[in-house]
Amino acid sequence: PEYTNILTETRGRVATITLHRPEALNALSPALVRELIDAAQAFDADPGIGCIVLTGSEKAFAAGADIKEMAERSFSEMYLGELFPSWSGFEQLRTPVIAAVGGFALGGGCELAMMCDFIIAADTAKFGQPEINLGVLPGFGGSQRLPRAIGKAKAAEMILTGRMMGAEEAERSGLVARVVPAAELLAEAAKTAEAIASKSLPALYAAKEALQVAQESTLAEGLRFERRAFAAAFATEDQKEGMRAFAEKRAPGFTHR
Ligand code: HXC
Repeated sequence: PEYTNILTETRGRVATITLHRPEALNALSPALVRELIDAAQAFDADPGIGCIVLTGSEKAFAAGADIKEMAERSFSEMYLGELFPSWSGFEQLRTPVIAAVGGFALGGGCELAMMCDFIIAADTAKFGQPEINLGVLPGFGGSQRLPRAIGKAKAAEMILTGRMMGAEEAERSGLVARVVPAAELLAEAAKTAEAIASKSLPALYAAKEALQVAQESTLAEGLRFERRAFAAAFATEDQKEGMRAFAEKRAPGFTHR
């Protein structure tokens, strides 16, 4: 399909989605969100894709939901979901998604990055939930995912003051997996994505799902999920291949079955 707010590219088993609304620092307009979810779901449905990289520009990953588009909306428009399509399509992707964040990741932009499996940040990255400055609060999951990522104290401070957090503090706090020089952001994200995409796809799906269960369940429930998922992995051809390859001291040739 033709997209106007995003760019897409595939290289081998890695797909890249680049948010591309430079005139608005990639503000998440309804049209952009629809395109993003549509593209991500298409890659997710393609067994030839083993990892998705989501990125923005050097200046901004995304500066939040589109404030100008939101400003005059009513309660019922917001509540009925007319302005923003449901994010559940993005949250339900089975393929691992890496957020490669340079520049501003604010409000919905920070929340979108947190919906990804992990974040690689450029040293220029700035994270924040500045909604409080607009008379609102985070609306795409920030009040729930930020405390899980960085703990209650820091999350409360950020959400109640609206202050931004630099890349170094974000790494120290556990919000991002790794900080890299801005010029190397895309290359590092691509390298990491290639490493992921070379693994068994069913194993990746199961590992991603288990990590998600860890965010939203008790330890006992999570351990029960993991036990079943681990046993289920032994029904895949890739498990046999992976373990035989180890014993035979060779690289595995996964077929994603
Ligand atoms: C609409 C935006 C925007 C946004 C930037 N722009 N962020 N438009 N929505 N979220 C536009 C500006 O209006 C401007 O357009 C252009 O992008 C460049 O931005 P500047 O402000 O001129 O750039 P700069 O001075 O470098 O400042 C960068 C910035 C600032 C600090 C990131 O733009 C900013 O504070 N943006 C808003 C951040 C924010 O509050 N995000 C949370 C949104 S609420 P023009 O036409 O003037 O050139 C949210 C809720 C999610 O995300 C849940 C909803 C359900």
